Amino acid sequence: MVQSRVRVLFDEETIAKRCDELAADIAAAEPKDLLVVAVLKGSFMFAADLIRALHKTGLEPQVEFIHLSSYRKGTTSSGQVDILRDVESEVRGRDVLLIDDILESGRTIVFAKDLMAARGARRVLSAVLLEKPGKRAVQIEADFVGFTCPDVFVVGYGMDVAHSYRQLPFVGLVDTSGEGPDLFEQR
Ligand code: IMP
Ligand code: MG
Repeated sequence: MVQSRVRVLFDEETIAKRCDELAADIAAAEPKDLLVVAVLKGSFMFAADLIRALHKTGLEPQVEFIHLSSYRKGTTSSGQVDILRDVESEVRGRDVLLIDDILESGRTIVFAKDLMAARGARRVLSAVLLEKPGKRAVQIEADFVGFTCPDVFVVGYGMDVAHSYRQLPFVGLVDTSGEGPDLFEQR
């Protein structure tokens, strides 16, 4: 498949700087016995960068993964969240930091938060790279937010449309104008 042009919304340098700032904010919350849980798949690149930024602050988190699927019809959420792969670690009594790519309807993060709380986590915090305001179906705000995202479907930096574009080192939007070269275009 030939990938279309992607217009850069948040570039590599901007994201890297924000990861360091978020890590400092997370460290300031003084998490105890920290278990970081990356919500797959979309968060894998953000999680990798944020976890290394956490290391630089002196934190020593353990790292886990949960694969959740919020079923989507095209680019809109249907509401149901399923666990495709669960964490293996005990969460009881621990501080858990959920990492996700986008907070949109809020259903994914609420589901993951409730799950960790039900398993006895001491505190459940959440960090998202992007949040789309005004899109919430359930009441939830993330504790740590990278950037506010315009109400457009974004790709890159782990996020996909039909499994494409996850490899991009920046967040962008697919340009459907049909003009210009069929190459990735930096801002
Ligand atoms: P929520 O449960 O509606 O908050 O949905 C959040 C999940 O939907 C994210 O973890 C993403 O996987 C996906 N998502 C929402 N908006 C976008 C987007 O613009 N691009 C790619 N994935 C998205
Ligand atoms: Mg996701």
